[in-house]
Amino acid sequence: MSETSQSAAPQTLSIRRPDDWHVHLRDGEMLQAVVNHTARQFARAIVMPNLRPPITSVIQAREYRSRILEALQPDRKERFTPLMTAYLTETIAPAELEQGFGEGVFTAAKLYPAGATTNSDAGVRDLRHISAVLETMERIGMPLLIHGEVTDPAVDIFDREAVFIEEHLRPLLQRHPQLKVVFEHITTAEAAAFVAEGPSNLAATITPHHLHINRNSLFQGGLRPDFYCLPVAKRERHRLALRAAATSGNPKFFLGTDSAPHPRGAKESACGCAGIYNAPYAIESYAQVFDEEGALDRLEGFASEFGPRFYGLPLNEQRITLQRKETEVPGLMELSNGTQTPTVLVPFHAGEVLHWQLAA
Ligand code: DOR
Ligand code: ZN
Repeated sequence: MSETSQSAAPQTLSIRRPDDWHVHLRDGEMLQAVVNHTARQFARAIVMPNLRPPITSVIQAREYRSRILEALQPDRKERFTPLMTAYLTETIAPAELEQGFGEGVFTAAKLYPAGATTNSDAGVRDLRHISAVLETMERIGMPLLIHGEVTDPAVDIFDREAVFIEEHLRPLLQRHPQLKVVFEHITTAEAAAFVAEGPSNLAATITPHHLHINRNSLFQGGLRPDFYCLPVAKRERHRLALRAAATSGNPKFFLGTDSAPHPRGAKESACGCAGIYNAPYAIESYAQVFDEEGALDRLEGFASEFGPRFYGLPLNEQRITLQRKETEVPGLMELSNGTQTPTVLVPFHAGEVLHWQLAA
């Protein structure tokens, strides 16, 4: 990392262009509305496959990748590379994954426990039903990305990640000791400790929102559907543990926004959808956390180096500059999507002022 200011509080920060190792770009109108926010900041992004229907074949992934590329603004077409993932079902063939990974179409595969979150009903009920798939992934070095929550309704929703570690993740790593695993969007001190103490083939992504909000935020001044996501935000001590992990310089923790747009009406409803739309100001949001933690010199590792190293991909050569500059986040975004009616989204940090800005 290079600082262009020598003062105690740097005014600008130049880092390699970051990548987003976990994002929901959706499809159709929503894809048109959101993809350029991600491409403004990131060189690459691991694109989640939880569409309807889910992305379970090489051909579907190829076609989806083309739609993403088509939706990019001209100046971002050359610069942004979507990295595709396969959605693991109990019937997906190991050969499909091996073919897709071999052809460079699938970068990784995503495990949703059935019923854990948005469009996860086609997910996996019992990990032992996909052991042949996991053996193949382990052999070919294809990363497994895990939504780590148990789905048993009897388990308190705030405990579902910690219970998943003991009931499923620890045994999984014992059964498949060479499997590359990314524990996605961790939300607990237990998860951060488990990853830090685990083998080098285990890593985790951390979202901006879990670094900023705790579970009180969901009820601050009333019910706040825009702060509802899965895994749900936890107690303050967990947020602090995540901040410590993200800013520690430990290469097992890297950037993954889990930006998950839902139209405003689907969030602010009697049964609101889970997901926070943080893509518009993601790098500014992370920069603010690293600044608050006195760790700006560690942002580049977290945002731009540890992810590609874990995935075995080259580091980006391009750089970005962040400036210490007030950025007003709009309360609402009306985004064009190729139709007459814009897509209305509430961005994370709506109505707040962030203290960093990505230079154009
Ligand atoms: O909050 C979430 N939203 N968590 C997920 O795991 C899925 C995501 C979505 O797709 O909306
Ligand atoms: Zn996600």
